[in-house]
Amino acid sequence: MKFFVDTAEIAAIAELNDLGMVDGVTTNPSLILKSGRDILEVTKEICDLVDGPVSAEVVATEADDMIAEGRKLAKIAPNIAVKVPLTWAGLKTCKTLSDEGQMVNVTLCFSTNQAILAAKAGATFISPFIGRLDDINLDGMDLIADIRQVYDNYGYETEILAASIRTVNHVTDSARIGADVITAPPGVIKKLADHPLTDKGLETFLADWAKTGQKIL
Ligand code: G3P
Repeated sequence: MKFFVDTAEIAAIAELNDLGMVDGVTTNPSLILKSGRDILEVTKEICDLVDGPVSAEVVATEADDMIAEGRKLAKIAPNIAVKVPLTWAGLKTCKTLSDEGQMVNVTLCFSTNQAILAAKAGATFISPFIGRLDDINLDGMDLIADIRQVYDNYGYETEILAASIRTVNHVTDSARIGADVITAPPGVIKKLADHPLTDKGLETFLADWAKTGQKIL
């Protein structure tokens, strides 16, 4: 399973990238706001840092303008994935840009039918939002499972990018279901290493080691 980091914070991306944990990055207008950076500048820095796809989202709502924005964002670097919302204008943009050979991430997906449309429009990635479905008392994981089944039924090559991941259990469940990619905030990815028995076991080993009076270095 590929790990994308859902942030526009360069230091956090660099830290995880150095550990080999970053297969790509996703951003959105809210994350650009949070970074306080210029979208073109910060996206270029991320693309220079990371080898994999870097999603940069258009903000126009009409197809012609979305296509123009997408082409401009695509010029930042070869590893840009243009991110478009799951509207008819977004799907038209997806079809146009994917026909030009551009990676496209279709975002704000909340239903299996929307995911089918994205696949038919040539999306490289479909981004179903797990956490936001959980927020309204639906089960985001059911959506990931449904899309996995339908994409497999028809051999759609669009990758399922499980997004709006808020917990470590979202990561485990996405892996069990077979999402191709998860995108998660750096804090969630860092928590994946945590286990109280690891901490407890290490404490015992170190205490026993101290009693040996030995040194390795
Ligand atoms: O990349 C978009 C998505 O991951 C947003 O997550 O937590 O704002 O629903 P969230």
